[in-house]
Amino acid sequence: MSKLSLLGGEKTVTAAHPHYKWPPDADMLELEDLVAQRNTDISTAGRTGPIRDFEEAFLEFMEGRVKYAVTFNSGTSALLAAYFALGVRDGDEVIGPALTFHAALSPALILGASVRLVDIDKNTRCIDPEKVKEAITEKTKVLTVVHQWGHPCDMDRLVDIVRRHNLFLLEDCSHAHGSQYKGQLVGTFGDVAVFSLQANKGVFAGEGGILVTNDSNMHDRATLLGHYRDRSRDEVVSKDLRKYWVTGFGQKLRMSPFNAIVALHSLRAFPERKQRRHKALAYFTERLQEVDYIEPPYVATNVDMGAWYGYKPLYIKERLSNVPRPLLVRALRAEGVKVSIPSAPPVGTLPLYAENLHPLFPGKGWYRNDVESHPVARQIASMALSLPPFWRWPEDREIIDQYISAFLKMQSNVHDLLSLV
Ligand SMILES: Cc1ncc(COP(=O)(O)O)c(C=O)c1O
Repeated sequence: MSKLSLLGGEKTVTAAHPHYKWPPDADMLELEDLVAQRNTDISTAGRTGPIRDFEEAFLEFMEGRVKYAVTFNSGTSALLAAYFALGVRDGDEVIGPALTFHAALSPALILGASVRLVDIDKNTRCIDPEKVKEAITEKTKVLTVVHQWGHPCDMDRLVDIVRRHNLFLLEDCSHAHGSQYKGQLVGTFGDVAVFSLQANKGVFAGEGGILVTNDSNMHDRATLLGHYRDRSRDEVVSKDLRKYWVTGFGQKLRMSPFNAIVALHSLRAFPERKQRRHKALAYFTERLQEVDYIEPPYVATNVDMGAWYGYKPLYIKERLSNVPRPLLVRALRAEGVKVSIPSAPPVGTLPLYAENLHPLFPGKGWYRNDVESHPVARQIASMALSLPPFWRWPEDREIIDQYISAFLKMQSNVHDLLSLV
């Protein structure tokens, strides 16, 4: 039995770093497009050039099931535009998941709304439909779902709930480009959907986001929020709204053409990268069955994981003599494993959500979220490990094999590990 690296033994993982590199480097074609853009147009005001090309390519990527696609300078900006497009305002409530990245929900706050966080499902890690039902009040206007880590939410039940209660449905697909629920692409179930295109995402611009909808009025409102002048003049069709084209509604949230070029190339490369990631992660999951104390991510039989943005198995402490998670992570890292504790805590623990006075509009009461009512979110946050969502298949097979050896080494050296507690 070899000694733990933390105690001076040999490292188990000998594969050269980095074990995971994302975003991938640009190829020559992408670099040439970026160079050519420099002397063509470095500020695209309308729906032209690479902005138009990317939006059109994205509509195709969505299999023609959405009519409009509007780019923004971030996913957060696109979410602000989505909430604005849905008419969210002072006094409204938005329901959203208790464990996700805050920006899925925070933009609603600046419009004066409250956010009611709802617990998640242990398997899919998406919002729990039963808990959604309990959270609906007469103030609820929008249900925001996040297809967390690429796993689609339970859309049959969630769509049924929004129909019965006459709510709007916003899909945050930032982790789930190309994910499918029962053969239908995420982003095509709701009134409006948003995809972040930030550098870590499956389809990436560097910084950027895209909003899609089938609703002409929502398209007009979202456009006016973030794209005043040329784009609003040319694209907004509602007469009542078009008159605002010079000023829009005060924001300038458009994407740079350089980011659109990066996004277009990453979209073209996505299907092949996705296939490779799926193969690598299926192999990782298969091999993790050998490790008693790790529960690999759940994947329902009726979904496609699409971009599969994160690989976050659960650490079952009781099956490793209760070795604390931070110590396990330290020991694995000493072996050369790229592992960490996921950085996003339950949303309700963040000061912006844990107070009962609206910090943006002093004096205004709002919904105070209580993390005690999100036991599953807290449980997952306390058990998850963050591992690389490998994608260089078959090259990554060797690294995965070495990671498994490192995990197994923890099992056979558990007494030494316990001596470090
Ligand atoms: C679920 C989710 N929504 C929204 C965002 C915000 O996107 P951006 O960073 O592009 O503003 C992120 C970013 O990580 C996210 O994970």
